[in-house]
Amino acid sequence: MRVQVAIVGGGPAGALLSRLLHRAGIDHVVLELRTKEYVLGRIRAGVLEKGTVDLLRKAGVSARMDTDGLMHTGFRMTFNDQSLRIALDDLTGGDGVMVYGQTHVQRDLYDADAADGNHIQFEVSNIELSNVDTTSPSLTYQKDGETREINCDFVIGCDGFHGICRRTIPEDRIRKFERTYPFGWLGVLSETPPVSHELIYTSHERGFALCSMRSTQLSRYYIQCPVTDHAGDWSDAQFWDELKRRLPNEVADTLVTGKSIEKSIAVLRSYVVEPMRFGSLFLAGDAAHIVPPAGAKGLNLAASDIHYLSEGLIQFYRNDDSQGLDTYSQKALARIWKAERFSWWMTNLTHLFPDSSPFERRMQEAEFDYLANSRAAQLALAENYIGLPL
Ligand code: APR
Ligand code: PHB
Repeated sequence: MRVQVAIVGGGPAGALLSRLLHRAGIDHVVLELRTKEYVLGRIRAGVLEKGTVDLLRKAGVSARMDTDGLMHTGFRMTFNDQSLRIALDDLTGGDGVMVYGQTHVQRDLYDADAADGNHIQFEVSNIELSNVDTTSPSLTYQKDGETREINCDFVIGCDGFHGICRRTIPEDRIRKFERTYPFGWLGVLSETPPVSHELIYTSHERGFALCSMRSTQLSRYYIQCPVTDHAGDWSDAQFWDELKRRLPNEVADTLVTGKSIEKSIAVLRSYVVEPMRFGSLFLAGDAAHIVPPAGAKGLNLAASDIHYLSEGLIQFYRNDDSQGLDTYSQKALARIWKAERFSWWMTNLTHLFPDSSPFERRMQEAEFDYLANSRAAQLALAENYIGLPL
């Protein structure tokens, strides 16, 4: 088979690129390792920047988001017994962010593909890339017990952090930057009304906690936990108890608890590879970078990569102009590094570091106090949270 573009990985990055290419009439295929149900079962973050919302609209997959998504014009931060509201709309003159789960975004993308296009093949295994350093790359894979081959102009690696595309690039052609954190996030999804109509980020001497939501009846909560913990070690009762201890009393008192419908631990990592291109292979989303979740940037960065990359591909096929593709890595990385900085800063401000000294806790306290009393500091936080311009 021959296509113009072969996309490896059908997570949010791959499936969104597919929609945009479909609309532009660019012939392509998406090869996803897992089943559709498996991908839809993964619970990820749920805060969309305006740029992401606009891109989903452009991709024609916004109908449910526009009905069910919750516009948030601010969020709350608490630090020991200090509390602060970041008024995103007043500070930035914008609307704020859209709270709409990544799982819903993924479902909307899959439904659109199934209704019109059918570009995504699920349960594809053993993908191997060849000749990506030339202008005629190809890949082989297995599907339904058969080995198949695709020839194409470009391969797009949207196969996440553990995928194969990044690993295909010779070690001496990329640079990796990494920081791991000595804790994880234990997350619980529960069919209970959220404790607050806005998100609450809490830094407590027992550790970080976050109150988030998926809808007015579905809550998502997180607590910082040792990286060595397993989700199964935590009963629901233990989780709710620990969350309540970290929240301000008036919030803990109104928390509605219930049976968890999902419980998992995420490891926290900052990671970037440079450049995001090797010959005809382009990397996008988690295949090229990871952020710790405190800034809610993972999905939004995947979307901004896809914005730049889809424009580059469309310019290439419409105008025979490779300028957008040639500048993709540089443009995407400029935005990625700022989101990396913001996510690292949010993590450092709000988490308890096991090896930190009393001096470092005082630094966090001073930073929070500055934030609470400086409009300039709040604006810097707000403009990063709603998303820097594309
Ligand atoms: N072959 C085909 N598909 C693969 C392979 C492979 N060898 N390896 C991984 N995949 C698939 C995974 O099954 C997954 O569905 O690639 C997809 C990658 O999806 P994500 O990991 O969700 O990454 P991305 O699409 O870049 O989205 C980034 O999702 O992971 C979150 O926090 C992250 O919010 C961010 C966003
Ligand atoms: C979530 O709702 O899952 C969520 C929200 C905000 C974050 C991270 C995760 O910063």
